Amino acid sequence: MKLKQLEGLLGNLQQFDNPKIELEQYPTGAHIASRMLYTAENSFGDISNKIVADFGCGCGTLGLAAALLDAEHVIGVDVDDESLEIASINADELEVELGLIQCEIKSLAWRGQIIDTVVMNPPFGTRKKGADMEFLSVALKVASQAVYSLHKTTTREHIKRAALRDYNASSAEVLSTEGLLFDEETTQATVVKSGVLPTLLQPRVVVYDGVCHLCHRGVKLVINADKDRRIKFCCLQSKAAEPYMRVCGVDREDVLRRFLFIEGPFEYHQGSSAALKVLSYLPLPYSALSTLMIIPTPIRDLAYDYIAKKRYDWFGKDTNCLVLKEKDLLERFIDRDETVQKEWSDE
Ligand SMILES: C[S@@+](CC[C@H](N)C(=O)[O-])C[C@H]1O[C@@H](n2cnc3c(N)ncnc32)[C@H](O)[C@@H]1O
Repeated sequence: MKLKQLEGLLGNLQQFDNPKIELEQYPTGAHIASRMLYTAENSFGDISNKIVADFGCGCGTLGLAAALLDAEHVIGVDVDDESLEIASINADELEVELGLIQCEIKSLAWRGQIIDTVVMNPPFGTRKKGADMEFLSVALKVASQAVYSLHKTTTREHIKRAALRDYNASSAEVLSTEGLLFDEETTQATVVKSGVLPTLLQPRVVVYDGVCHLCHRGVKLVINADKDRRIKFCCLQSKAAEPYMRVCGVDREDVLRRFLFIEGPFEYHQGSSAALKVLSYLPLPYSALSTLMIIPTPIRDLAYDYIAKKRYDWFGKDTNCLVLKEKDLLERFIDRDETVQKEWSDE
């Protein structure tokens, strides 16, 4: 399932009718939920064919996202029966299985690591001090692989420390990059993993058609303007591009049509939006062009798609990644070793 499709399905879910403030019942938005689960699956392989629990599941957004991403079994736990009813209606609507348990999280009588992955958006502890810690400690006891948890930015370091020091997590990582804020200003995605983290993908990477002359000109322009060296590149044709495409739920054909900009673990853009996002990282006057974002995406993409379709006819294409012809640019490419090695083995 593609990321956009997942976000769309979650966006239609019923939310709390009468949110109970004392239980911190605020909804988990479709945008953040889809990206959190998509990353858990596509970067870490922690969802499909796994036993997943959604702690403080409320209306079930995170658990249902796991079910849609082919978790073997999903169990939602919440203290509030009215929320569980809504979660059950949502599961029926989506035609997926969601086991539901009404229980205070600290009274959950599970022994040992019977769950693979816990996903949760727990109370932040603003109403009941320490509520977030209660959730974290139980989650890390029952999960054999990973705990993905949303927390307030201000408590992030505390959460990481507690996971490592008090709850025996083998690692604790914040799965977000600077400036990556979500639905609520105070919230960032913190992933606390009890397993070993694989290498994280880099932020601000452009994946583009390396054999296209027009694209290559664009890349050179960005490299020359980007004095702070914030943007990195990867040719679509290289192996290094594959994990980036996987986390975004796109394939080579998609990126051949519209290039990809991975801003951070939860933010991916294609086509005209990707171009304007990249420009926003450059100094003036280039960054000023990013104000063109106010033009609706379908209109911008219409022009983008037309040029993209004609690009080989108008500007030409090569058989190899063009960066090999200008090796001084290579250091800005995350696939440089692979590209150079390929050239040697082709010679
Ligand atoms: C931020 S909301 C989570 C929203 C949910 N992810 C959704 O999609 O609707 C926090 C949830 O934790 C539940 N909760 C609060 N304290 C709890 C506790 N001690 N034990 C179990 N659930 C609790 C609340 O009822 C609420 O549904």
